[in-house]
Amino acid sequence: MEQNQLNAIIRQRIDENGRITFADYMTACLYEPGLGYYTSPGRKVGVQGDFYTSITVHAAFGRVIARELAAMWRSMGQPADFTLMEVGAGHGRLACDILDFLQEREPECYASSRLMLVEKEPSLVAAQQELLAGHAARLLWTGHAETAQDSRFSGVIYSNELLDAMPVHRVLMTPDGLKEIYVTRDGEQLKEQLDVPSTPVIGEYLARYGMPLLPGQEAEVSLAALSWFEAVASRLQQGFILTVDYGYPKEELYAPQRKLGTLLCYHQHRVEDNPYQRLGEQDITTHVNFSALMERGEELGLTTVWFGEQCRFLLAAGMVNEFEAIESSGLPETEKLKRRLTLKRLIMPQGGMGDTFRVLVQSKGVKQPDLGCLRGIGA
Ligand SMILES: C[S@@+](CC[C@H](N)C(=O)[O-])C[C@H]1O[C@@H](n2cnc3c(N)ncnc32)[C@H](O)[C@@H]1O
Repeated sequence: MEQNQLNAIIRQRIDENGRITFADYMTACLYEPGLGYYTSPGRKVGVQGDFYTSITVHAAFGRVIARELAAMWRSMGQPADFTLMEVGAGHGRLACDILDFLQEREPECYASSRLMLVEKEPSLVAAQQELLAGHAARLLWTGHAETAQDSRFSGVIYSNELLDAMPVHRVLMTPDGLKEIYVTRDGEQLKEQLDVPSTPVIGEYLARYGMPLLPGQEAEVSLAALSWFEAVASRLQQGFILTVDYGYPKEELYAPQRKLGTLLCYHQHRVEDNPYQRLGEQDITTHVNFSALMERGEELGLTTVWFGEQCRFLLAAGMVNEFEAIESSGLPETEKLKRRLTLKRLIMPQGGMGDTFRVLVQSKGVKQPDLGCLRGIGA
């Protein structure tokens, strides 16, 4: 039913202009109010959903992030007013794991913190309020992180798997130059159409934050992710931006062997590559261009503190303590083994979450941050 409604809306938009950009198509599929993948009821993440994120694997992920947030607070001189902003907070699971850890292990940091939860889908606020009821005094709910009238603050803006869910323009390099992939229709059938880019900003983005594409090579350009990043970076007075997502630096993202780009769809834990089916009922994602965040960040006065694979970040920032806690827990050996294997999923390299995901830590106005990730594994 919803699929039909969304279909009709997309067709109407195509008919108005003859075509729409893929970015507009993806925005409708993911975020059309009440009908998009993220803006309609139903669980998306976890065993009953379509994909797992690190948060749904184990609370240890949130606890390690929390350790690093406390180190950031100390690096900033233990401010009495420390603002955390989680963007794309979903049901609030990560926020809950972080606040539980800070309350128990870092009570001074906890008492100085307030956490703003930002989520595009307003109905998730109720789920967040329920899950985080025990931390209500430390919480704030805001609309969009990028809202211009919101004031600047000092603290940390963090996200997990946010930017991969932002709309992208798709392009194809041809012997006649760069073309954009539009969505149009042939009767009832949605189809792609190539033409000159809808805005010169796409070519400028690729020239600045991309790599030369070879004829026949497809790629994605997320202007939405970049403008989100610019907006939140300008809201940060002093502190850090911590971004966890799957993605690459530009040399890998736009490498000639990646001929078809990185767009993927997720439905009931199956990965597919056809974005024109199950409208609003499957996730559509692409890999993040971490070079764009680092290079634009430097232009905006941010310093790249650390960038690398999730496994290296987690191991250096406190995952070792999580393994030690299992060993000294007194639990039966079978239970210990089960827990160790679950934690391993977060750090497993070679196609697992450990190296598919990358972590980027950027700072603003913080001299010599002393963070776990900077000390290296096992330090
Ligand atoms: C892939 S889910 C990840 C959810 C959660 N962070 C996790 O790791 O399980 C992406 C989430 O980001 C939200 N989102 C997308 N764009 C957003 C924006 N500009 N501001 C706030 N939330 C956004 C979506 O509604 C969705 O809940």
